[in-house]
Amino acid sequence: MAHNDIDMANWKESEVWSDSLWIINERDKSGKHDGFYHGNFVPQIPHQLILKYTKSGDTVLDLFLGSGTTAYEAERLGRNFIGVDIQEKMVNHVRDKMDKSDEVFSEVLVGDSTTQKTAAQIGEVLAKRKQKSCQLTILHPPYANIIKFSDNKNDLSNATSLSEFLVMLRKVVKNARSLTAENGYLAIVIGDVYKNSEWVPLGFYCMHEAQKQGFKLKSIVVKNMAGNRAKQGQESIWRYRSLANDYYVFKHEYIFIFKKI
Ligand SMILES: C[S@@+](CC[C@H](N)C(=O)[O-])C[C@H]1O[C@@H](n2cnc3c(N)ncnc32)[C@H](O)[C@@H]1O
Repeated sequence: MAHNDIDMANWKESEVWSDSLWIINERDKSGKHDGFYHGNFVPQIPHQLILKYTKSGDTVLDLFLGSGTTAYEAERLGRNFIGVDIQEKMVNHVRDKMDKSDEVFSEVLVGDSTTQKTAAQIGEVLAKRKQKSCQLTILHPPYANIIKFSDNKNDLSNATSLSEFLVMLRKVVKNARSLTAENGYLAIVIGDVYKNSEWVPLGFYCMHEAQKQGFKLKSIVVKNMAGNRAKQGQESIWRYRSLANDYYVFKHEYIFIFKKI
């Protein structure tokens, strides 16, 4: 059975991308996307993932909701949505922006996505909505401590070491596994970090955590980081540093896509 609504009779007209290199030079600012949140991803990421891995009426889960980029794309594409963030103010912000619809539902919760309690709350939402599980789960965690999102010690951006970060991520991936349908999909959006003069391949460590939980890797998408706010206006400093040193400037991040089998 197809896992999406791509019209294969007219596949040449499809807007769904098929290559593993995503060059996105401009953020989609249409609709509810305002791009204010430091650390958000571009709407084209959830847009493409939802089109490729879900059908109309399916349920999308985002365990690091942030400013709600996935929520607005799910709504736009007629998918149910459940989102969780540890910051109440972000959850309230997204809730205020979502439409009330009879066709699809949108539920956003304040919670710590590493905990079983949060998984149980999501289970209750699914039961209330007469759903068993989610067809697509998207995880866009903090890139370790590159951006600090809150003072909450359970916020992944407050992990004090790489191993602590990975233990926390593992718990979130476990929850994702229990809430994602058999043959459903998981996407992790993450970049690498540079620490103590060493490139730390955070992306691949996170990828491995999902594989260890039994997810089957289906694709590694490499995406450019054009317009990354942290580096805006500083391109020439970074180029100078790269030329004067022995490393390259980060210009890409990853979207790892897995199937639950
Ligand atoms: C990289 S941002 C996600 C941005 C989102 N994709 C967007 O476009 O706005 C990561 C989010 O994870 C949240 N977060 C960190 N630790 C968390 C945890 N343990 N449980 C739930 N949310 C968490 C942070 O508050 C932050 O909003």
